[in-house]
Amino acid sequence: MKKYNVIDVLSNEGKELELIGWVDSRRDHGKLVFIDLRDRTGIVQIVFGPEILEAKNLRLEYLIKLNGLVKKRPANLVNPKIKTGELEIEAKNLEIISKSHELPIPLDTSGYEINEEIRMKYRYLDLRRSRMTQNVLIRSKIIKFIRDFMHSRDFVEVETPILSKSTPEGARDYLVPSRIFPGNFYALPQSPQQYKQLLMVAGIEKYFQIAKCFRDEDTRGDRQPEFTQLDIEMSFVSEDDVLNLIEELYIELVKTFYPHKKIQKIPFPRLNYHDVMEKYNSDKPDLREDKNNPDELAFAFIVNFPMFEWKETEKRWDAVHHPFTKPQVRDVQDFWNQFNSDPSKMLAHQYDLVLNGYEVGGGSIRTTDPELLEAIFKAMGNDPKEIKVKFNQILEAFRYGVPPHGGIASGLDRVLAILQNEPNIREVIVFPKTGEGYDPLMDSPSEVSEEQLKELHIKVDKKDK
Ligand code: AMO
Repeated sequence: MKKYNVIDVLSNEGKELELIGWVDSRRDHGKLVFIDLRDRTGIVQIVFGPEILEAKNLRLEYLIKLNGLVKKRPANLVNPKIKTGELEIEAKNLEIISKSHELPIPLDTSGYEINEEIRMKYRYLDLRRSRMTQNVLIRSKIIKFIRDFMHSRDFVEVETPILSKSTPEGARDYLVPSRIFPGNFYALPQSPQQYKQLLMVAGIEKYFQIAKCFRDEDTRGDRQPEFTQLDIEMSFVSEDDVLNLIEELYIELVKTFYPHKKIQKIPFPRLNYHDVMEKYNSDKPDLREDKNNPDELAFAFIVNFPMFEWKETEKRWDAVHHPFTKPQVRDVQDFWNQFNSDPSKMLAHQYDLVLNGYEVGGGSIRTTDPELLEAIFKAMGNDPKEIKVKFNQILEAFRYGVPPHGGIASGLDRVLAILQNEPNIREVIVFPKTGEGYDPLMDSPSEVSEEQLKELHIKVDKKDK
């Protein structure tokens, strides 16, 4: 195993270390060869004397191993741009572990200027650039921080299935054909919504998950077909309990990792959906005072969303969030009264978290009265048979002592992209997909063999290709 990282030179002046890393840059000064050696912790300058002949053969991105003495650089040669800039390594030997071909993309730039599909195709190289390495490392630290925070608040981390059944989050499902049940399909979860509610019925009380979600929708800067949520569900809570928790989490997180960033308003403003729509004509307004300042964070909660919106394509009322959201009604009678007079006026116990003009979270208090839930499904145009097929598991579960509950899910890719000042979420996802949902690295989606199709009882109609 590697004993030292580049960053360890800082605490080992005067000592000899064994270092392993990639050649980040190289300058041949005749007698002396200088290289910058890079690993995920940083860069350090190595000096090879004329006795180390192999140094002349080094090229960019060769992976090398060497022993060397950590020395102070002369004052006039200090490089203030790198952390180890006051030091250098006087190499005693050199071993080339593996060579590198000439690179298909440069790694010594920010990378934004390179065609993104090529960056994705060579993502394993693209991730070597320090900006991208930093994004990977900070993501890992932030996920750990979130886990620790949630555990410290007595939450239980639970994994829910990926091979699942369609949950209505408003997007198209990714389907997985079943071999054993011909003509039947699993759906990849658009979110763990129903599972987390069932965990409340199970008595888990406080659930969280760093959950992968899958939605077959058009990809954009802030949307990927698969993305990561911090998913939360809690029993015996009010809206305020849920909002306070997520607010405390993000305040702590910013304080810990981005102390130079300023949260514009604490507590986060809680704004009415209708007021916000009237004032900004958007339910995710960018509330920054100075929109050119990347270190300003304008968090806000938008509350009191409408329960329903008219879906012209399907000629029916649809839930603005999802049908499990609790409408602001007294009982089933009041629900029908309100629905029959004007469905667009009914409000819901639903909230979003917005940050600098992006929706970075959404959730609601849930309907736990099975009768009311059935009424909501009906209002959305489902006939009783359909309700039984799609939602029986929830309706039945709610007949066995269901606790009142609510929750929220926050899009971690979006939060990270904003905090890292990245222009889109692909920069904080290690292996993202293009706008068409294509993965240039794996060349996926791709065709499968006739045998596989046969096993799955599937015939492909290729007319459109
Ligand atoms: P919702 O659908 O609002 O709620 O999703 C929660 C948050 O997930 C993020 N998000 C996305 N991020 C990247 N790419 C996407 N395609 C994408 N879609 C959504 C957003 C969004 O605010 N089950 C409910 C939560 C709940 O009710 O508890 C849900 O998934 O930041």
